[in-house]
Amino acid sequence: MSTLDILFKKAFEARNNAYAPYSEFKVGAAVLTAKGNIYTGANVENVSYPCGTCAEQSAIAAMIGAGEYEICDILITASSQNLITPCGACLQRILEFSNKNTIVHLSDLSGIKKSYPLTELLPHGFNQDLKK
Ligand code: THU
Repeated sequence: MSTLDILFKKAFEARNNAYAPYSEFKVGAAVLTAKGNIYTGANVENVSYPCGTCAEQSAIAAMIGAGEYEICDILITASSQNLITPCGACLQRILEFSNKNTIVHLSDLSGIKKSYPLTELLPHGFNQDLKK
């Protein structure tokens, strides 16, 4: 199994654990770090709707909790007619921990369908000059 196959499988498994009773739209995410480790997350909704978190946000939080800070690849998976891309806020969150080659993989429930450099999805993210 290739690393991207494993990344997909992990995101798929995380999606199964999503808590999305309000939208009924489950999303799974998995990040592959520069150290070669994988961290996953799923969306977590709340009865107070704005308190919900995206799958990408959960996966990034898991990565940070483990002491890692560099994303090489991120994969998101959902069951949708149209492939889903990370929301604008999540693109900015990914950017924070990206390198110049970070790839965003989009998948349905059968596997990766498209892959984009993060810079293509977010060519003008907020001011990196502020980054430490
Ligand atoms: N959602 C994600 O988890 N990631 C995305 O990239 C887009 C949207 C979640 C948020 C909410 O729980 C549900 O999908 C419907 O918008």
